[in-house]
Amino acid sequence: MVLGMRLLSPAKINLHLRVGPVRSDGFHPLLSWMVTVGLFDILDFALDAAGRVTLVSSDPTLPVDDRNLIVRAARLLQAHVAESMTNALGGEVIDEHRRRAWEESNRVPGVSIRVAKAIPMGGGLGGGSSNAAATLLGLNELWKLSLGRQQLTALAARLGSDVPFFLFGPSSVCESRGEIVRPIGPPAVCKWVLLMLPAISMPTPAVYQRFDTMHVSDSASGWDESVDWSQWRTLVAEELLRKLRNDLEPPAFDLVPELGVLRASAEQIAARPVRMSGSGSTLFTLFDTKDEAQRTESEIQRQLSVRTHVVPIAPEVTKVTPEA
Ligand code: C5P
Repeated sequence: MVLGMRLLSPAKINLHLRVGPVRSDGFHPLLSWMVTVGLFDILDFALDAAGRVTLVSSDPTLPVDDRNLIVRAARLLQAHVAESMTNALGGEVIDEHRRRAWEESNRVPGVSIRVAKAIPMGGGLGGGSSNAAATLLGLNELWKLSLGRQQLTALAARLGSDVPFFLFGPSSVCESRGEIVRPIGPPAVCKWVLLMLPAISMPTPAVYQRFDTMHVSDSASGWDESVDWSQWRTLVAEELLRKLRNDLEPPAFDLVPELGVLRASAEQIAARPVRMSGSGSTLFTLFDTKDEAQRTESEIQRQLSVRTHVVPIAPEVTKVTPEA
């Protein structure tokens, strides 16, 4: 009998990120090619018969209450289940005894979750969003809810702009606030990313606000570009890097100039464009081979004080089973 389940929860980068002028709801319309990368948190789920939602983390600095997107995702799904049950009752007038019997046999399910963190936090790698999406997918199975992709996407969008992507992955074009997700083939030749993780935590809302005050969208000509993704995905790393851009770089570097300085140094050492992921602070550059990526990584480490990882782009994920 399956009482638990284990899911790998990958990090992401925004290979390409175009941002339009702020909408009346305070959000900005996006066009982003997002890919998963080979850095994973591990989530273990076990049923809780008493209907509780509890979270234990390997990282003591991670909040495990309602501030955590894993807990928020589980509670959102519980609320959805409770609402569907009430609707199923259809406002039928029934006596108290029958109602209690009904509630007993239709108890809202619970879960205890353990998360082992490997994705650095606060760096634009989407760890929290990925964990939230894994929780929705995991609980849909564990609680046998049979929710379809559309229903899960609507719930995911309520948790955060990057969450819907992780329901689809590993390579998708995301639009609007991120809730319109179109899977596309991952890069065919360019397979490796060198991640640079400065010890800087970027406040996402402040980066978007700076984007507004700098009027980046006025000069971001071509934001409504129609990209031939099927052609872009065949390019070698250096060609692809020349096409990619991130409209949040000017405001992020204006907000934290040392990040812009670091990017310039990294570009010189790597001898190729270096991009920022999301609202930062993660920087990255791309390679066709692991060898080249590792050679550049050694040089970056020798000359700059920044944490680095060389990982595959859109890695194959085989299903993992929990330890006994
Ligand atoms: O949805 P998420 O929690 O990632 O958004 C964090 C903040 O980033 C939002 O409150 C908003 O200020 C800003 N944001 C935005 N437009 C987007 C995504 C995020 O303005 N498309």
